[in-house]
Amino acid sequence: MTSTRTGYVFDNDYVHAVDQHRYLTECYDALTCSRLAETGVSLGWRCWEIGAGGGSVADWLVRRVGPTGSVLATDIRPIRPYVHTHEVVHDPLPDGEFDLIHARLVLMHLPERDAVLRKLLRALRPGGWLQLDEPDIGYCPVLLSPDRRAAELYEAFQAAKEVLLAEAGADGTWGRKVAGAMAAAGFVAVDPLPVVYPWRAGSPGVRLQINHTHHLRDKLIAAGMTEQDLAEVRALLADERFRASSTVMYSVHGRRPL
Ligand SMILES: C[S@@+](CC[C@H](N)C(=O)[O-])C[C@H]1O[C@@H](n2cnc3c(N)ncnc32)[C@H](O)[C@@H]1O
Repeated sequence: MTSTRTGYVFDNDYVHAVDQHRYLTECYDALTCSRLAETGVSLGWRCWEIGAGGGSVADWLVRRVGPTGSVLATDIRPIRPYVHTHEVVHDPLPDGEFDLIHARLVLMHLPERDAVLRKLLRALRPGGWLQLDEPDIGYCPVLLSPDRRAAELYEAFQAAKEVLLAEAGADGTWGRKVAGAMAAAGFVAVDPLPVVYPWRAGSPGVRLQINHTHHLRDKLIAAGMTEQDLAEVRALLADERFRASSTVMYSVHGRRPL
């Protein structure tokens, strides 16, 4: 039941995907799971984790809903054995099935994200919850840098990512639009929470950025960066004198009307 059409710029089969999913867990699971807890998710709930990736959020949900609940974990390219293959844009979805649907860093990659929101609304039971955790990479300023050239290269690296995402049909600034898009799709009680983190050498967010320089190397070079630029960005990210604000992560709740 799976199509391979997607605007996804990463590749779960690539050697760098293992670290990518580990760093995503380290960066965002605390936020994601505390927001999921706010929905009241508990024993017996029926949940759907879309684009499950490394599976840590699905694992958390399984513990939360217990043996009387259920967690369907899906991904276009599963890397955990219990994750089902499912492409969220084109594959069929059940109707009125779920108490809670969660997706993190998935809809930003899908050109059809507004249509997907309308499908997700129908897949929830009346009163059911959707939580989307989505970034805005248009904000991630350098706060301290050993020199201006290094800061400019870092800014060029972030700008190149935005360009290559856009070329694939992804939206790097989708995070700031999620709440409005959910309201337009018919969700109620829409509640966006924007969050930023300090990025410094060795922090999970910075390890994720270094991972991107490898994982997206070919696309970054096609977007105008050179090998030397990428090497200098990696050196800056490893430098104790470097500090930046993370990109903004928006954790957004909405409910299907009763
Ligand atoms: C950036 S990763 C995020 C993984 C996980 N949600 C997390 O935050 O740790 C995006 C995930 O969405 C999956 N994905 C991309 N396009 C998809 C689609 N059209 N349908 C279902 N999953 C998709 C990818 O295979 C990947 O595992």
